Amino acid sequence: MSLNVIVLAAGQGKRMHSDLPKVLHPLAGQSLLGRVIDTARSLEASKIVVVYGHGGDRVRKAFENDTTLAWAEQKEQLGTGHAVMQALPLVDKEAAVLVLYGDVPLIRAESLHKLVKASWGALAVMTAIAEDATGYGRIVRDASGRMLRIVEQKDATESERAIREWNTGFLAASAERLSNWLSRVRNENAQKEYYLTDIIGLAVADGIVVRTTQPAQVWEVEGVNSRRQLAELERIHQREVANALLEKGVTLADPARFDVRGVLECGRDVSIDVNCVFEGAVKLGDRVRIGPNCVLKNVTIEAGTEVNPFSLLEEATVGANCRIGPYARLRPGAVLSDEVHIGNFVEVKNSNVGSGSKANHLAYIGDSDVGSKANIGAGTITCNYDGVNKHRTIIEDEVFVGSNSTLVAPVRIAKGSYIGAGSIISKDTPPGQLTVARAKQVTIPAWKPPVKKKG
Ligand code: UD1
Ligand code: CA
Repeated sequence: MSLNVIVLAAGQGKRMHSDLPKVLHPLAGQSLLGRVIDTARSLEASKIVVVYGHGGDRVRKAFENDTTLAWAEQKEQLGTGHAVMQALPLVDKEAAVLVLYGDVPLIRAESLHKLVKASWGALAVMTAIAEDATGYGRIVRDASGRMLRIVEQKDATESERAIREWNTGFLAASAERLSNWLSRVRNENAQKEYYLTDIIGLAVADGIVVRTTQPAQVWEVEGVNSRRQLAELERIHQREVANALLEKGVTLADPARFDVRGVLECGRDVSIDVNCVFEGAVKLGDRVRIGPNCVLKNVTIEAGTEVNPFSLLEEATVGANCRIGPYARLRPGAVLSDEVHIGNFVEVKNSNVGSGSKANHLAYIGDSDVGSKANIGAGTITCNYDGVNKHRTIIEDEVFVGSNSTLVAPVRIAKGSYIGAGSIISKDTPPGQLTVARAKQVTIPAWKPPVKKKG
């Protein structure tokens, strides 16, 4: 049987105190809703229908590139049952339907697999146990433990409120049964809402089996209603990511001070110091060492390279056995070969740097092709921009650029040439020779220091 997933995301999220719709708030760099959709997709759902309402246009827009999603608008928030009803016309008639929440981001596919399996020929509800389940719908069972119904907090009696088993909100049943039950749900309750949870009582009345499953971890079913809950789930998620890396043999100086906002792949014996942030797709080869306070976004680093403290690397490729930082900045399009040294306060953008080349301090290498074994002195700047267009600077193999030189592109510094310190180079230089382009040093022989006037 095919599986369709309905994601409820019409809630306002008032307690976030934000202009951004709640389900678009990011957790580990991805929106809450995006996470739920990815998890739904990993279940091989043939259709995913998102129920949107408040701030809906922004929500839809955020996913406009995803043409596989179907959208159902819930104009008025009349309850979770009403929300599911808006989605049902878009659902395949023969499908099994799984209901998820757009603001419960950490639910795992394995727990949902269990729930969907339990729904075959039945209605399946995911429940959890809490010391205090205040606020949640409670699971009411008979003396033999058979589930009878769900009672919402606001409709519950004193003794029902003492029940510790609560409704996570996730459930699964056939589309056919779901629509039959929902057509019979009324809003005669404390909140005048159409409760999705009322279908349990109807299933029981119809003699349909109701099964319950539990998530592997309770945080999988925790929702985000406030920034505080969001921050708590962020930490839980990060701890999970950290634990998985530790299990695989990565050294983390402190798993509590480490953030992955994307996918971090590590080779053997990688070590990561505190306060590093990894965004997008980051790949670290064997024995790569990342010093404290580094940020790496969409970066690939080959084996044995060391990134020293306070470096920022973005959309860059770094070869093996390089030394980067401290305080280095690799911007998009920086491609470094092996054994390259990029030191403190050196910025590299849209440039290739050949193996063994070094820029150890205070330099800007932009739109350049640097050969191998070149040495770029401190304070060297490639002037790649004439105010309108960008031009390339070519620095061939074994070039030595003296400190504080200015290379005005387009320009080619031929193989093995030396540039005297402080030069402004705007014309190509010949190979293997020293070129100096700066005012000559003069000493004024009869010069006398000024004398203080009396008066
Ligand atoms: C619901 C359940 C409750 C459960 C709790 C778990 C009902 C009646 N109650 O509570 O048993 O313990 O979730 O968190 O189902 N939503 C819509 N449209 C609506 C109403 C809600 O899309 O008209 C969405 C919200 O965006 C949210 C989810 O449904 O993602 C749950 O809504 P919320 O108001 O948080 O839950 P409750 O109804 O209080
Ligand atoms: Ca809620």
